[in-house]
Amino acid sequence: MSLVFAFLGLLLALLIGGVALYLITARQYQSSNSVANSYDEWTEDGILEFYWGEHIHLGHYGTPPQRKDFLTAKSDFVHEMVVWGGLDKLPRGTTVLDVGCGIGGSSRILAKDYGFKVTGITISPQQVKRATELTPEGVDAQFQIDDAMAMSFPDASFDVVWSIEAGPHMPDKAIFARELMRVIKPGGILVVADWNQRDDRQIPLNLWEKPVMRQLLDQWSHPAFSSIEGFAELLAETGFVGGEVVTADWTEPTLPSWIDSIWQGIVKPEGLVRFGLSGFIKSLREVPTLLLMRLAFGTGLCRFGMFRAVRSSSEQLLTERAIAESVKV
Ligand SMILES: C[S@@+](CC[C@H](N)C(=O)[O-])C[C@H]1O[C@@H](n2cnc3c(N)ncnc32)[C@H](O)[C@@H]1O
Repeated sequence: MSLVFAFLGLLLALLIGGVALYLITARQYQSSNSVANSYDEWTEDGILEFYWGEHIHLGHYGTPPQRKDFLTAKSDFVHEMVVWGGLDKLPRGTTVLDVGCGIGGSSRILAKDYGFKVTGITISPQQVKRATELTPEGVDAQFQIDDAMAMSFPDASFDVVWSIEAGPHMPDKAIFARELMRVIKPGGILVVADWNQRDDRQIPLNLWEKPVMRQLLDQWSHPAFSSIEGFAELLAETGFVGGEVVTADWTEPTLPSWIDSIWQGIVKPEGLVRFGLSGFIKSLREVPTLLLMRLAFGTGLCRFGMFRAVRSSSEQLLTERAIAESVKV
């Protein structure tokens, strides 16, 4: 009997120790430097790329979701987003800015399969290095370090601005929205896919949702999640949008990604040999966050948001300005 108690005691101690370690080693957002450092580390050790492939974003499993290979679901996501954004109708040579490009998974598909001329930016120098290494000659995608909160590009530089899952790292979503729209040419298109929180102006976060949200932010260097409604309003408020900001909720087709990403650790045991004990511990420490993400997206605390906006054309801007002037008179 005392052996059973000793065993249970040990289990409890391990559990408490594990939770304490999880909380203490969280990668809280401090500045864009903390984001850059986290991605540099994740890129240098190669673990994320080994399990997640060249796309650091969720997969698209269809509606209703179908069983699919994890990496296929990720590249499918890019094609689904192209079609949803109406980018498949654009001519070859269209210039695209991929904001928060990771190691260039989307950028390469946009360049190879659609003939676009892509520039990818990320805050992480290691990601720029790896994205460049992974891009074969002849694929029109180039990468550079730049801060999405204050981009180095002049106004109206690109036909399309594209961004996947970078928004939660941005400390000021209004500035992020403005920067995205600012660099689009008049008549050009913005397509964004992002993790969002439920709009808490409508239903405030309850007792269990608040600490869960806290961990989702702190574990992966996120200052805050927007809501789908809130970010659409911020885009509209930039004054650059012609017409409506179109949104969609892709929580359902992306939901299997969370468990699938844990499953990768089991179906790819060679990772154990490749990354050793420290790699195993590093991967294991992400499992609670992946489960919390699954919980949050499965219960409505979080939602996967899609955003599409068209930058007002210069004629439209002139007409709007003329109307504003006539109202003043
Ligand atoms: C979750 S990853 C997504 C990467 C890529 N879009 C993909 O789907 O594979 C988030 C990306 O946003 C980038 N990022 C975060 N904050 C940034 C900032 N202030 N400026 C530019 N990129 C940033 C990170 O470096 C990383 O590449």
